[in-house]
Amino acid sequence: MTPLENPAGRTALGLPDDFWLGAATAAYQIEGAVDEDGRGTSIWDTFSHTPGAVERGETGDVACDHYHRMPQDVAMMKDLGLDAYRFSVAWPRIQPTGSGAVEQRGLDFYSRLVDELLAAGITPWLTLYHWDLPQPLEDAGGWPERDTALRFADYAQTVHAALGDRVRHWTTHNEPWVSAFLGYAAGIHAPGRRDAAASLRAVRHLLVGHGLATRALREAGAESLGITVNLYAVSAASDDPADVDARRRMDGMSNRIFLEPLLLGRWPDDVLADLDAVGLGDELRGPTPEEDLALASTPLDALGINYYSRHTVAAGGEPGSEPAYPGSADVRFVNPGYPVTDMGWPVDPTGLSEVLESVHALAPDLSLYVTENGAAYPDDVVVDGRVQDDDRTAYLDSHLRACATSIARGVPLRGYFAWSLMDNFEWALGYGKRFGLVRVDYDTLERTPKRSAEWYAALTRRQ
Ligand code: FCB
Repeated sequence: MTPLENPAGRTALGLPDDFWLGAATAAYQIEGAVDEDGRGTSIWDTFSHTPGAVERGETGDVACDHYHRMPQDVAMMKDLGLDAYRFSVAWPRIQPTGSGAVEQRGLDFYSRLVDELLAAGITPWLTLYHWDLPQPLEDAGGWPERDTALRFADYAQTVHAALGDRVRHWTTHNEPWVSAFLGYAAGIHAPGRRDAAASLRAVRHLLVGHGLATRALREAGAESLGITVNLYAVSAASDDPADVDARRRMDGMSNRIFLEPLLLGRWPDDVLADLDAVGLGDELRGPTPEEDLALASTPLDALGINYYSRHTVAAGGEPGSEPAYPGSADVRFVNPGYPVTDMGWPVDPTGLSEVLESVHALAPDLSLYVTENGAAYPDDVVVDGRVQDDDRTAYLDSHLRACATSIARGVPLRGYFAWSLMDNFEWALGYGKRFGLVRVDYDTLERTPKRSAEWYAALTRRQ
């Protein structure tokens, strides 16, 4: 792989001068300190301690130890020249049992983080829920229960009351698709359930919770409110009508099942029809569809999009082989020749432009942000003690150029957050997959910027 030269600022890649360049993390993936300052147990603590759930039995107990190293980590962000930092708040640090009693020490940690960021000239971008549901709420039924949405809105207000004077950018959920379908249908994420009906109720209640929280925060004076969804470019493996239909179903169950309620106030008809065919449509519709869709489509100021890859799909496959897609489980993922990352995800930057432009067509006035994009690679090329990650650098470069292309075509894309600031706990895959701009040595917890970090710092520099 040919090493890329350092860019002379963002405009060298065709990005506007006021385009934000940031980096993202999530609480459970970096914080550690799971028993400190009154933090309660989350579904990820329970799941990661369940034998066989996470590779090599790894957990987030220590992770990157960010809870103790936060000031140094913010200094590292400053060295990278980040305009903004996207982090998530751990609900069980704020409400250890998921409702009622508030733990002030938890709020204080995020308050210190926000102050540290502002002092470093970095805009805080706060996500309220990145998958760490307090375990007592899961014990009461979790997201398949409507009450969880009400609890989420209470929690959102508590965090906003403490930080709303300094944090302008609020995201309700990160990737509700993952919460609902990997957590409740495929069971490969916490809480590890395999119940298609429950996963569809979870979709609905995640969106209801989003709407309730958005309304409450708006009323409390919040100005910039949004949600982050993970979207995919989707192609059919061939022109065969069965493959073309597989593409429709995959787009429906990956993208439109969230985009349509959020942006258009409706469930996609074709998705409901597919679900009705297997007796599951009413799980998504629920008993009060009008009220739920009105909540789901509460106006947004910004939509966050996480983009990693293109799905290419064909009909067939073993029956039920893809349980993360209820009603469409008999599909096959194929790769028509894209290079893949260490996750096995096909690399296709044109898919990012495609996704941005299709969302823009649905919601022409909405500001968009890429809230995650990045790549895992083995990072085994080390030159003078530093990871020479030309593969990751090329991935970031090509996807940022795709952003520039879409902006030139009129998409109001305002910023981009690299996933991730540093290597961290990659959920069910543990510490084996490295996404960071900065390397973390899990024995010493030492942070070492990779070559991609140097490249990114050159990009963020304003001339
Ligand atoms: C996204 C998650 C993030 C990280 C990346 C690789 O789905 O939001 O936490 O795990 O994938």
